[in-house]
Amino acid sequence: MKILAIETSCDETAIAIVEARENKDLASFKILGNEVSSQIAIHSKYGGVFPMMAKREHSKNILDVLKKTLLEAGLYKISKKNKTIDPKLKSKIKKVLEREDDLFNDFISFFEKTNKPKIDAIAVTVGPGLEPALWVGISFAKALSTYLGVPIIPVNHMEGHIFSVYPKDKNTFVVNKDKKMFPILSLLVSGGHTELVLIKDWMKYKKIGKTRDDAAGEAFDKVARMLELPYPGGPEISKLAKEERGKITNSSQELKFPRPMINSKDYDFSFSGLKTAVLYTIRDLKEKNPKILNDIKIKQKIAKEFEDSVIEVLTSKTLRALKEYKIKTLIVGGGVSANNRLEEVIRSSVDKETKVFFPSKKLSGDNGLMIAVAGYFQFKDKKKSRKLNADGNLSL
Ligand code: KG4
Ligand code: ZN
Repeated sequence: MKILAIETSCDETAIAIVEARENKDLASFKILGNEVSSQIAIHSKYGGVFPMMAKREHSKNILDVLKKTLLEAGLYKISKKNKTIDPKLKSKIKKVLEREDDLFNDFISFFEKTNKPKIDAIAVTVGPGLEPALWVGISFAKALSTYLGVPIIPVNHMEGHIFSVYPKDKNTFVVNKDKKMFPILSLLVSGGHTELVLIKDWMKYKKIGKTRDDAAGEAFDKVARMLELPYPGGPEISKLAKEERGKITNSSQELKFPRPMINSKDYDFSFSGLKTAVLYTIRDLKEKNPKILNDIKIKQKIAKEFEDSVIEVLTSKTLRALKEYKIKTLIVGGGVSANNRLEEVIRSSVDKETKVFFPSKKLSGDNGLMIAVAGYFQFKDKKKSRKLNADGNLSL
């Protein structure tokens, strides 16, 4: 079956099309198209993502992203003569696009000029994320499903990040369903979430720990702002931290930030105290020298110590959970999984018997491909039905 998946939960407008096939212990996927249009350049000016601005950008870009994805998949065919869409169907589409009425005319004129693409189902992220942004994807998915007469599959964004580790550089990939790989533990670290999830079988999730305040990615972004670095902060901090580690004489021992909750018996996290520790350090340094942040060496030291702290806490809790739950496979996903140091530390501390998966750099951020794969599993699992409403706090 061909699945078209839509992702608009934050600042990427993303659409992918896959062809999914079922084998005994495997689901195999052919990537037909995968397009991401990033809003980072826009949000970076304001130091973060404003939901209404993200929504506007998604509406502006989504038809263009659809066109690119269909072209890539060879499913975009200009019709010989302009069609007229049946007025009844048109009014149904108008109704489902009532929240995004600026999209209606463009949607109709797009499909009056093109042939109906052969798609069997539409998957769409319904949460967690920014609700105004999520609604653009949902309304658009509803319009597509109404126009094409195909089912719609509501997908959890975090579930997408779990499946994001499977596609690699080739245009086909498989997801194993073999019982031997379970239980799986997933460390999900993104801009909005930090959680440890126990997976006994696909679609069977149990959250065993989560952040009590800031998410790991959020802490990276906030500390980056304190250091006068642009949004998103993760890559900026990790670049400076790497420079610090590369120094022959590394004097960052002078600076020590806490490792919050590292010894707590549970699997929860907390990053807001760490963020405050960084804030106070910078404030004290600025009191002595208001121009201190012009000194790159100070920024490198703070970045390294901060990154070490986050990674130590994430790794320590993950290792403990691997043991306690006798985990066979570890999956790390979400935007922060792009952090090279995190991957290095986790891979070198996990024992050889445990399989470790990280997504490719291209798929560590938000994308439609991961939603297509999660959508396929959701579609197969008839028992699990989700509402077609944006839910900013949707849980696994
Ligand atoms: O999953 P994602 O793309 O969006 C959400 O669903 O939130 O995650 C974005 C987060 C941002 O906070 C960003 O700073 C962080 O991922 N991030 C990183 C790195 N690359 C992106 N954090 C640490 N190191 C990185 N290399
Ligand atoms: Zn994400």
